[in-house]
Amino acid sequence: MNRKTRSVYICGSCGESHPKWVGRCDSCGAWDTVTEFREPVAVSRVAKSMSAKSTKVVSLAESKVTSESRIKSPLSEIDRVLGGGLVRGAAVLLAGDPGIGKSTLLLQLMSAWACGGALTLYLSGEESTGQVSMRARRLGVADAPVHMATETSAEAILTILMAQKPDIVVIDSIQTIFCEALESAPGSVSQIRESAALLLRFAKSNGTVLFLIGHVTKEGAIAGPRVLEHMVDTVLSFEGDTTYQYRIVRAVKNRFGPSGEIALLSMSDSGLREVQNASEFFLLNRHDPQVGTAVAPIMEGSRILVVELQALVNRSHFGIPQRVASGINPRRLSIILAVLERHGGHSLGDHDVFFNIAGGLTVAEPAIDLGIGAAILSSFRNRPMRRDVACLGELGLGGEIRPVNNMAGRLRELGRMGFKECVVTGSADEADWTKGHMGLTLIRCIKIGDLDGVIF
Ligand code: TYD
Ligand code: MG
Repeated sequence: MNRKTRSVYICGSCGESHPKWVGRCDSCGAWDTVTEFREPVAVSRVAKSMSAKSTKVVSLAESKVTSESRIKSPLSEIDRVLGGGLVRGAAVLLAGDPGIGKSTLLLQLMSAWACGGALTLYLSGEESTGQVSMRARRLGVADAPVHMATETSAEAILTILMAQKPDIVVIDSIQTIFCEALESAPGSVSQIRESAALLLRFAKSNGTVLFLIGHVTKEGAIAGPRVLEHMVDTVLSFEGDTTYQYRIVRAVKNRFGPSGEIALLSMSDSGLREVQNASEFFLLNRHDPQVGTAVAPIMEGSRILVVELQALVNRSHFGIPQRVASGINPRRLSIILAVLERHGGHSLGDHDVFFNIAGGLTVAEPAIDLGIGAAILSSFRNRPMRRDVACLGELGLGGEIRPVNNMAGRLRELGRMGFKECVVTGSADEADWTKGHMGLTLIRCIKIGDLDGVIF
């Protein structure tokens, strides 16, 4: 090929471009992630014809977007994650493991939007239109006026988009799309970057909502360049374990609403459903206290979920005791065990400790520290905790218990759910969170050593 090209070197991890090849990206510090990317100097013809428009300059007041102009979906959970519905012209990246339900969710949403009058286009590079319509039948949305096509060339997609001018378009998935102007294989950093840029340019200049589906790698990063995350307005991460029913859609980034917000959905035979009473969803056998379980409220975005923490402490029969944690960082477990031993006076050194969060959730918040300690203690003592007691607090290395953010909200939720007591720290200046949580009694616990006396 004699087309003029220019070489740049792009980091596959952060998307930073370098003028020459380097072994270690100086932007993100990753090793061996920089690859050559030949950029054609001439822009492809379709892309060129798009940029011929002149730009209109408006004032801030003129360009006001009202909340009515947001497109609502039947899943109010998803609307909440998007910050109150879909904004016209928004570019949304939906990333998640293969098989988690990305195509299912978007097909469901698209059919609802189509039935609501939006012109929708579902472009699949992974499945034939037959496969998509089969799925639509399973979901009970086969009659929805969603337009479909199977196409993987970015230029061909642009031609379709310019002819159809849809309101909402889904690209399933960005890893299958390739730019004819580039020589590298689909799914490579340069292809993803370039085809996403082409599609985004169209979406922004036409007010089209663009959904890009992206796969994640084993390490959990969005496959291909991180640069996708910077290019789009909203990044939704689809989480969950395919062995469980529940799915969480989390707004990792959102230019049109708060980030960190989650939608709790459950996968059924006929697609994704909203979970009713989400705060109780992960509480499996709350009215039957078991040895080794404790309950703690966590925050996911603005939502409070009450989770069950499970521990199993057993005398160790081998030299080095085992410490196995799922749902929390194993180091966190080690620290809590060390604090329990040093400041609680419990000799756990010759015991195996297994820890789990019921339902397969993963929690990074330190707010569950006290609950983890209580679950371990309950198993160690072989005594169940009293009924309807929750634990809330962070554990310091000195054995002290600390209050966490949004104490008031978490306690209110526990009270609303009918819990009778909650173990909290007593050292905080009597702040506003000590009042008004519907009959919930606060049990004061200043040091980890006091825990033993208050939970059984
Ligand atoms: P899919 O949307 O194809 O995942 P992705 O696009 O993220 O790769 O989801 C596929 C999984 O969902 C598959 O294992 C079957 C399951 N599923 C249901 O349980 N119920 C349904 O109604 C549908 C359509 C799929
Ligand atoms: Mg899919």
